[in-house]
Amino acid sequence: MRKYVRERKNKKLIGFVPTMGYLHEGHLSLIRKARRECDEVIVSIFVNPTQFGRGEDYHSYPRDLKRDIALSEKEKVDVIFAPSVEEMYPEGYSTFVQVEGRLSSVLEGASRPGHFRGVCTVLVKLFNIINPDISFFGEKDFQQALIVKKMVEDLNIDTRIVLLPTVREEDGLAMSSRNSYFNEEERKAAIILYRSLKKAKEWIDQGERNSSRIIQKMKDFIAKEPLARIDYIAIVDSKSLEEVEQVERGNLIALAVYIGKVRLIDNMRV
Ligand code: PAJ
Repeated sequence: MRKYVRERKNKKLIGFVPTMGYLHEGHLSLIRKARRECDEVIVSIFVNPTQFGRGEDYHSYPRDLKRDIALSEKEKVDVIFAPSVEEMYPEGYSTFVQVEGRLSSVLEGASRPGHFRGVCTVLVKLFNIINPDISFFGEKDFQQALIVKKMVEDLNIDTRIVLLPTVREEDGLAMSSRNSYFNEEERKAAIILYRSLKKAKEWIDQGERNSSRIIQKMKDFIAKEPLARIDYIAIVDSKSLEEVEQVERGNLIALAVYIGKVRLIDNMRV
C-alpha cells in the first residue's frame, strides 16, 4: 500500500531536519547530510512549547531566525518551515502523542516528565505537514531518536530516521543551543561532561566492567568541578535503555548535569 502511495507521489526524495533553531555545527551536520542524500532539504525551526516543563527555559531559549535563515541559505536548504505557536497549537488544541513504556520513562523521561510527549506530538505534526522520505536526527539526543524511531514504526509514519554522530567543540563539549547561556567560567566547567565520559571509556579500556563502580567514579570525578551538579548518570543497553550491571560493547553511557542553572546532556557509546 505504501509503495503504491509513494509511487503516486512525485519522485523527489525529500529530506527533513527538525530543529528548535539557533543553529550550530551539530544542526548543520544534519543539514549537510540531508543535502548530500536528498533532492530537496526542508528544515523546521520551532521552539516547541509542549516539550518544555514548568520552570524550564522555554521563554529564555535562544532564538535568532535571521541568522538561522542566513546559515540555511549557505547550506542550500530549499525550504525553512518556521511556524508560529498559534499555527501549531491553536486555541483548543487537544491531541497528544505518547510512546509508552520504558523508552519514555527513564533518563530524560524521568527527569523531564512530559518532555517526550511534547517532542512526539510536534514531530507527528511536522511529519504529517512535510511528508519527508528521510528525517535526520543527532545522537546527542540518543533517547529522543530511539523514541522517534519507535513512534514512526508504531504509527506507520512513512519516513526513514537517520541518526548522525554528535558534533563537538574543540575541547569536546557537545554543541548545543544552550551553550550560549554560559559565562566564561561556566563554559570551561561544561567540559566536565565530555571529560567524565572519556574517563569512563578509559576505565573500561583498562578492563573495568562493573557499571556501578564506573558510575561512582564518574560521580567522584564530576564532584571535583564546583559548578557542576549531577542530575543522572546511567549505563544502559542502547536499544532497550535498560540499565546493565556489566558493561558490554555497544552500551550507552548517558548523563545529565547542571552547570550553574543550565542543564546539559551528553552520551557516548562503549
Ligand atoms: P534541537 O535541540 O534544536 O536539535 C535538533 C536536532 O539536532 C536533533 O536531532 C538533535 O539531536 C541534533 N543535534 C543537536 N545538537 C547536536 C550535536 N552537537 N551534534 C549532532 N546533532 C545535534 O531536538 C530538538 O531540537 C527537538 O526536540 C526537536 C526534535 C526539533 C522537536 O522539537
